[in-house]
Amino acid sequence: MVTLRKITHQNLCTCIYDIKTTEEQKNFVDSNVESLAEAYASITNGGFATPYAVYDNDTMVGFVMYTYADELGGDLAPPLVLPCYFIWRILIDRNHQRKGYAKQAIEIIITEIKTMPYGKADRIYTSWAPENIASKSLFASFGFVETGEIDGDEDDYEVIVKLDI
Ligand SMILES: CC(C)(COP(=O)(O)OP(=O)(O)OC[C@H]1O[C@@H](n2cnc3c(N)ncnc32)[C@H](O)[C@@H]1OP(=O)(O)O)[C@@H](O)C(=O)NCCC(=O)NCCS
Repeated sequence: MVTLRKITHQNLCTCIYDIKTTEEQKNFVDSNVESLAEAYASITNGGFATPYAVYDNDTMVGFVMYTYADELGGDLAPPLVLPCYFIWRILIDRNHQRKGYAKQAIEIIITEIKTMPYGKADRIYTSWAPENIASKSLFASFGFVETGEIDGDEDDYEVIVKLDI
């Protein structure tokens, strides 16, 4: 059974040292240590971040994190329409991919976001590198659609997508 658990002193090292992408996927996502550092910077500066380890029973298989921004606070900026939630990271360990873990983790995250844990919003955004076929297919299956906006410049950018909730 797939569950999401908080990062604690007990599972932090597994999350940082053992949960990794393949070499080819490294350009698509930051490492978990970078993600947790970003979460720390957000949480300690008036922003929001919910990082979770993804478990299959008692085995950690991945990492997922979302954030929120409203007009008053958070790290997200135009072209995103605020207030909004943003699925900031999803990373399934290279040895556990293609087993349905990302799909189940995103399903749990969307259900949690719909309870509006940080405040009201009517949309969830995420973004992916244009060559990241796996991500595109994963999020499209939940109904995420391209907004026409990008994050970055024409040499290095991510496509911004949105799900109305
Ligand atoms: C993208 C990623 C999270 C998918 O995780 P996963 O657990 O393997 O995905 P799932 O098994 O839940 O698959 C869900 C859907 O994603 C798509 N998908 C996953 N891996 C894929 C691949 N290698 N090629 C094409 N589609 C893929 C499929 O549509 C799949 O549904 P299906 O199995 O019914 O065809 C994983 O490949 C990963 O961690 N990649 C590196 C980090 C990354 O790119 N993160 C996203 C940044 S935006």
